[in-house]
Amino acid sequence: MSLNILITGAAGYIGGSVLAELLSRTSGLVKAKNIIAAVRSEEQVQSLSKLGVNVVQLNLRDEDAVKEVVLKNNINFIIHTASSSEAALVSHLIKALGEHRRISGKDAYFIHSSLTTLFSEEAGWTYGEVRDSDPIFEKEKEIGDLHPARHTNILVAELSKELGVTSFNVAVPMVYGRGAGEWRKVSVNIPASIRTAIANKIVYKFDKDGAPPATHISDLAALYALLVEKVTHKEPIPSGEKGYYFATVHKCPWWEVMDGIAKSMHERGLVAEPKAQLWPSYELAADQLGFPRRFIRAMATSSGDLVPVNSYNLGWQPKWDQERFLNSLDEEVQTMLEVDTVKPTIFDFLLNN
Ligand SMILES: NC(=O)c1ccc[n+]([C@@H]2O[C@H](COP(=O)([O-])OP(=O)(O)OC[C@H]3O[C@@H](n4cnc5c(N)ncnc54)[C@H](OP(=O)(O)O)[C@@H]3O)[C@@H](O)[C@H]2O)c1
Repeated sequence: MSLNILITGAAGYIGGSVLAELLSRTSGLVKAKNIIAAVRSEEQVQSLSKLGVNVVQLNLRDEDAVKEVVLKNNINFIIHTASSSEAALVSHLIKALGEHRRISGKDAYFIHSSLTTLFSEEAGWTYGEVRDSDPIFEKEKEIGDLHPARHTNILVAELSKELGVTSFNVAVPMVYGRGAGEWRKVSVNIPASIRTAIANKIVYKFDKDGAPPATHISDLAALYALLVEKVTHKEPIPSGEKGYYFATVHKCPWWEVMDGIAKSMHERGLVAEPKAQLWPSYELAADQLGFPRRFIRAMATSSGDLVPVNSYNLGWQPKWDQERFLNSLDEEVQTMLEVDTVKPTIFDFLLNN
């Protein structure tokens, strides 16, 4: 079936890499002319326009503007990477898709990008090991929607169902590696640690070790492309309340990672010690890393026991593993020195609400 795809957050790390992945597929899965990249600034429009895709400057908080873009461009598939936590954006996007479906009579699809952190004790998940094929939606409802990302997950499933939109929920873990997008090419956690280490001349770690799930950006982007492929071929795959996809490949053992980064940075003369030191406090760490204080423990020390079943059933074949990741920490530092040029905005919503 023919898809007109809107990618939100297309100037971002994940959205930019998903866009690059779709364009790189020689199978002709999606043509550049059928992709609309949504960005926030005129500079980003200029930057992405060279890719041959349609680029629109769109504030997703503006419901009317979202509806206009979706209807005018016949969008029947949205890949939403702009925010896991801002429910209003999801509401605007799914309502616009629902309206397009109502007018055109054509099926409509929505991929949401969520967080694996939601499945850690620190974020209220008390059920232990979880598979993405488990009845997660029901458990999320049981826990309640105090966490903004969980509230958004519930909204995605419920609003999509109400409006007849087919939804998929990709739970995104700690992502690493150089992004393939045109604008922001660095991720969140490891880049924030390196940025802070450059400023302090010390690599810090937390007093509690954690081993959250992790995935290389190229493997994550491939998972999104697989979902697009399955929809294009009309293959029946889990969706809606059952449509969770854990994008998890291996663990990120934080203390080992921070020591690896300290070693690389010390060899480059960027920090005084070749070993990571303990943060004096969680509050100071949150403020320096630019993370919201109320989520710092979950972001920095949580683990979670997530088993991807649905993702692998799609035929997903990640190319990275933990060993390759741990051997690439010097590249993480190099990437930061080369392309950390765009100010992070990822926590603006959580810091201000
Ligand atoms: N990277 C990770 O390790 C990771 C892990 C788990 C979950 N996630 C989730 O995945 C999502 C994407 O992550 P990312 O690393 O790609 O973040 P990112 O690089 O900050 O990308 C987000 C993009 O969305 C845009 N955006 C945000 N709010 C918008 C709005 N109201 N209207 C229009 N555009 C808006 C941003 O615009 P600007 O360029 O103008 O800022 C940015 O380009 C986030 O919600 C994040 O929580 C990421």
